[in-house]
Amino acid sequence: MKISIICTGYVGLVTGACLSKLGHKVTCLDIDRSKIQALSKGLCPIHEPGLSLLIKQGLRKKNLIFTTSYTKACNVDLIFLCVDTPEGNSGEPDLTNLKNVLHSICKVAKKNLFIVTKSTVPIGTNRYIHTFFKKNTNLNIQVIANPEFLKEGSAIQDFLKPDRVVIGCDSKQSIEIIKKVYSPLNLSNEKLIFMSLESAELTKYAANSFLATKISFINKIAQLSDKIGANIHEVKAGIGSDQRIGSQFLNAGLGYGGSCFPKDIQALINLEKKLNINNSLLKAVTKINDEQLEFFYKKIINSLQKTKLHKTSLLIWGLSFKPNTDDIRESVSIKLIKYFSDKVNKIYLYDPASMKNAYAEFSEYKNIFFCDTQYQNINDSHALILCTEWEAFKNPNLEKLKMLKDRKIFDGRNFLDKGIINEAGIDYIGLGS
Ligand code: UGA
Repeated sequence: MKISIICTGYVGLVTGACLSKLGHKVTCLDIDRSKIQALSKGLCPIHEPGLSLLIKQGLRKKNLIFTTSYTKACNVDLIFLCVDTPEGNSGEPDLTNLKNVLHSICKVAKKNLFIVTKSTVPIGTNRYIHTFFKKNTNLNIQVIANPEFLKEGSAIQDFLKPDRVVIGCDSKQSIEIIKKVYSPLNLSNEKLIFMSLESAELTKYAANSFLATKISFINKIAQLSDKIGANIHEVKAGIGSDQRIGSQFLNAGLGYGGSCFPKDIQALINLEKKLNINNSLLKAVTKINDEQLEFFYKKIINSLQKTKLHKTSLLIWGLSFKPNTDDIRESVSIKLIKYFSDKVNKIYLYDPASMKNAYAEFSEYKNIFFCDTQYQNINDSHALILCTEWEAFKNPNLEKLKMLKDRKIFDGRNFLDKGIINEAGIDYIGLGS
């Protein structure tokens, strides 16, 4: 099939590259010329395992092309909208970019099309898109809501082996065409879940909000564990083994971040408010997430010698909002570094993939330094704070850790083995363990 992807952000690139792998002829459009030039040469702008290879393969097989031309992009059977919908000033998603895209398509579209919305959009947006084209063209443009559930760091796998594909639509032709798009994945029938446009839109927000709720729940239990001397790993094993609960997204830590959870939960909070529905549950989820970071921060401050704080140097491992990505948007690690920045002497930063982004974020900070390797400056640091559970941090070199002046490790992801660290004569401070 001939398919276009509008916008080559994280979702657009993954969707485009994966659809080209499935054998479709894919055109990816972006208005950013330099990005399109780089992509056309096979240069992938984001760190996502497997993505760069798929882009190169697509280009080689001529299944994947990049363009800035809407005329080219509209000469297809189906268009995926992967435009960003950032949080606006009011806390509601900002649809300016989406509306610009609709106008651009409208100006050049010459044939009947299916528009598939992958972007996370407020309830009612797909009906709005339908009405927009009805008003502004004589073409038969059908709209399908197909929210994405890709996780950064495993997005390719999530696309090619999805738990489910949610499809909101209201015509037989839409069902047929979308089945054709995904047919190379050979998904069983129950994995394609058809529903109304509104249900699909709400499903996306509900899924992210539920996952965030699980995280805030376990973080609250971790705080309790700390107080009563329980171990959160044991509690997690105890409750996660109940199939009704499940063990995923029950890792306690310093809180969730990223470009999706905070924004999507806020959107649902706003929607509830608008509809006069009590929104205290999701407000609490957000509040607990903010408090969890403060809880960890205070734990560190209390454990370090307060009077010497201004002479203390910290080494931070992990800057991205989660492992296997260079994305630092809404990363709790970045927030924690900012809390400390005016209180301690020096902060050394290391991350396997996000150093470039970290540099852009902190280049103005005089007491923040950037490390090329994991253990660089360890002998000038009093304590190590682990903020992101990169596999590279899993089995640290104990001899090198012993060089920490205060011999203290604060594990914001409960990732390291407390027993092994303690045996080496190093203090281990986790969250609820
Ligand atoms: C999330 C959803 O998982 C995807 O299904 C969805 O498609 C995506 O948002 C989106 O809306 O685009 P993502 O933001 O990539 O994906 O990351 P997650 O793996 O969900 O992690 C989110 C945050 O929760 C991270 O900061 C992570 O460290 C934290 N987390 C996750 C925990 O603190 N504990 C856990 O047990 C799991």
